Amino acid sequence: MITIINNVLVIHGPNLNLLGQREPDVYGKLTLGDLNAMLSDKAVELGIGIEFLQTNHEGVMVDAIQAAEGRFGCIIINPAAFTHYSVAVRDALAAISVPAIEVHLSNIYRREEFRHHSVTAPVTVGQIAGFGAEGYILALQAACGILGNRERKLE
Ligand code: DQA
Repeated sequence: MITIINNVLVIHGPNLNLLGQREPDVYGKLTLGDLNAMLSDKAVELGIGIEFLQTNHEGVMVDAIQAAEGRFGCIIINPAAFTHYSVAVRDALAAISVPAIEVHLSNIYRREEFRHHSVTAPVTVGQIAGFGAEGYILALQAACGILGNRERKLE
């Protein structure tokens, strides 16, 4: 029997627990709770399952990525500061067969030079940056397409 995994894991990296109060001119006024609620509503509309994790710890993020294998059809990840230097997070994403989409609230390419490079993006399906919370909705729609394609391939 083939089990179709029709759900998405959203991973929020370090300091994203402070959304709403952290540099609101850069990251917006929505709290993480608001953002997750918005995504939950969208997931219901799209008919897919969704789970959330926020962590400030690199090892916890690596563990969550590894554990997604066989449990989730797609990962949406904002690795936050880890984007720019965590080879461990990159290697975890490369090690699993679950496709990932990278999201950033801000346009990292318009900011400080150290944010211009993502070590994680090359092992994801694609990156969405600069659209604020809307970027996560776009990622969820893209995830839905990926899940649909996977289902078609399994049929
Ligand atoms: C961020 C951009 C990163 O450079 C930064 O370290 C973050 C948030 C974003 O969503 O725009 O924490 O990933």
